[in-house]
Amino acid sequence: MTKLFDPVRVGPYALSHRVVLAPMTRLRAEQPGDRPGELMAEFYGQRATQDGLLIAESTPVARNGIAYAGGPGAYLDSQIEGWRKVTDAVHAKGGRIFLQLSHSGRMSHPDIIEGEVPAGPSVVRAEGGGLTEQGYVDFAVPRALDVAEIPRILAQYRSAADRALQAGFDGVELHAANGYLPDQFLQDGTNLRTDEYGGPVERRARFLLESFGVMASVWGSNRVGVRLSPSGQFAGMSDSDPESTFGYVAHRLGILGAAYLHVIEPRIKGPDDLVEGVAAPAVAAATLRKYFQGPIIAAGGFNPESARTIVSKGFADMVAFGRPFVANPDLPERIRSDIPLAAHDRATLYGGDHRGYTDYPKASASMAA
Ligand SMILES: Cc1cc2nc3c(=O)[nH]c(=O)nc-3n(C[C@H](O)[C@H](O)[C@H](O)COP(=O)(O)O)c2cc1C
Repeated sequence: MTKLFDPVRVGPYALSHRVVLAPMTRLRAEQPGDRPGELMAEFYGQRATQDGLLIAESTPVARNGIAYAGGPGAYLDSQIEGWRKVTDAVHAKGGRIFLQLSHSGRMSHPDIIEGEVPAGPSVVRAEGGGLTEQGYVDFAVPRALDVAEIPRILAQYRSAADRALQAGFDGVELHAANGYLPDQFLQDGTNLRTDEYGGPVERRARFLLESFGVMASVWGSNRVGVRLSPSGQFAGMSDSDPESTFGYVAHRLGILGAAYLHVIEPRIKGPDDLVEGVAAPAVAAATLRKYFQGPIIAAGGFNPESARTIVSKGFADMVAFGRPFVANPDLPERIRSDIPLAAHDRATLYGGDHRGYTDYPKASASMAA
């Protein structure tokens, strides 16, 4: 029976345990310029463990691919130096770190992206809203991307992947979950196109697979992971046949040799627990196991006990924790030693300074206090 603290291999890396940091937008980049700084390096360094895996937050590949102002980017060369501080801090502790590359597509607003109208596969407005520097704004009605614009976006993914390489990351993750652009193309609730990027699943998956392909051209496919949220309803996402859609993608990514599949479980809606219940037949990590032979990371609402269970049942190989990692910088050690977990403060999740970010103590420090 596999255990949470058994070693596991991801691409070329031998990991010492299976507790992963889930990507979390915390909006604490240095401004102007969306540059990571010492504060972010401290945050990730605190959470690094010897041969443990961290996935750094959603990082836009383009200036017009931002949903929440104030986060770090990978769309300018001037952002590389700050990321180098982050990767150095993690490597100093023997850890591994992947960067999650994202494009918000339709999930944005002119006030966030310098007056531009956000663009997605089709004219279908995203539910919810994003953050400008001044505060919350509903997502705008998007325009549909012209097919001739797609090569430029793919080139942006490629350049961002190259910047991640220059910054010393160990790999990259394609953000194809939570209603970001590859997810918008993939699911039929948001893709009404009739060209080569719309219609049957093979065409709806094309943008996602091409994005993966350009990232893999920089990194090799075994250092590129993909995050999916097959039953996610965040931003109003929906698909009429999630198992066929996501099963197809998982199968194709397996053939291409992706580093891992990172699957958000159906009980989660973006950064929150889903209270209304799941409408469509739920597709979970266990479902996609049939389609993808490489390592699977499950995420969403796990506690130490449920994490041990899913790994021991073999439905997932690793478990990514988001919110529990916010207030427990030493989460793997706490889980391993059965130390109770601290609760996080919601008010300091998005934006601000070190408070609620790097000032949560380790268990040894809080017990000594
Ligand atoms: C503050 C916050 C920011 C998040 N930002 C991202 C993100 O940048 N990319 C992403 O894929 N998911 C993001 N998520 C979702 C988490 O990665 C994770 O899937 C979700 O929180 C459920 O896991 P948990 O129950 O362990 O928190 C975010 C969640 C939170 C709470």
